[in-house]
Amino acid sequence: IEDLPPLRDTVDFPVGVAIDSRETTGAAAQLLDRHFGRITPENHMKPEAWYDEDRTLRRHPEATALMDFAQENDLGVYGHVLVWHSQTPEWFFQDDAGEPLTADEASRTVLRERLRDHVFGVAENLAADYGPFGSDTNPLVAFDVVNEVVSDGGENPDGLRRSEWFRILGEEFIDLAFAYADEAFNETYAAPGSARPVTLFINDYNTEQGGKQDRYRALVERLLERGVPVDGVGHQFHVSLAMPVNALEGALERFADLPVTQAVTELDVTTGTPVTQARLIDQGYYYRDAFEVFRAHAEDLFSVTVWGLTDGRSWRVDSGAPLLFDDRFQAKPAYFGAAGAE
Ligand code: XIL
Repeated sequence: IEDLPPLRDTVDFPVGVAIDSRETTGAAAQLLDRHFGRITPENHMKPEAWYDEDRTLRRHPEATALMDFAQENDLGVYGHVLVWHSQTPEWFFQDDAGEPLTADEASRTVLRERLRDHVFGVAENLAADYGPFGSDTNPLVAFDVVNEVVSDGGENPDGLRRSEWFRILGEEFIDLAFAYADEAFNETYAAPGSARPVTLFINDYNTEQGGKQDRYRALVERLLERGVPVDGVGHQFHVSLAMPVNALEGALERFADLPVTQAVTELDVTTGTPVTQARLIDQGYYYRDAFEVFRAHAEDLFSVTVWGLTDGRSWRVDSGAPLLFDDRFQAKPAYFGAAGAE
């Protein structure tokens, strides 16, 4: 751990990693602290993580562990995620009798209120224990406000996923999510005098691919035209060695002319299986080329985050060793590539 150059010192943008509390102690914590400046909660700030059986919002102990770890080690926390179609309690979309909400005005009012309560609840909860956003004691620097709202296919003219959010509220849920997040994180619970302390992101996957990228861009343009307070465009970049690195660059360039920052939010690069030494070396070159692209676009980048610290902890481990470090905390060729080291 000691002799490798810290990855974060090799780039001009913050580098983050998705974790849970397992990475906040022992050798994992040391490795993390050396190479990364930001953390993203991999699961424990998702909508479902905030609620008990009785539907009362309370912070998951895992989220507390991450916030405390960030505070103690001077790391920024990139929050993930306020509004998503997945990992969200079913009752969000049901009436009190457990029946699905419809798209009528009464149902819409219920869901708008739930959305507002959720967003304000999260902000209030975090500010209560860590101080207002933008103060020295609160490590939160960003939040994914909406995640994966763009459809995979081009069948709908609006280009949006037919989620429960969309079924009940239509595109309006996106505008509302940003408006509430802006009010809660950047006004109500913001430190006096701090200017927009929490950067508000839209986030999606496959944004390096043609059709999805077109739909993403069109949505972001509509939001900006309507004055929706979206500060940043997130690219998950869950890719494999088969995805040309210039597609990643193309995605960043596609949004470069818009008045938003960008982030690589969930980077991982699967090798395919079996995981051979040759593939791990190819992966090293892949990370090298990808980080070269990120360095060239540093001015546009809010942060670059890898989706996990060690291979065995990756949600995509079955598709082949996607991350920078192996399970024994050893740097892989992927690390050396990313760090631009020999
Ligand atoms: C994944 C986590 O990594 C897994 O542990 C969990 O079981 C499912 O979710 N896009 C996202 C992330 O925005 O929240 C997902 O994280 C990966 C895909």
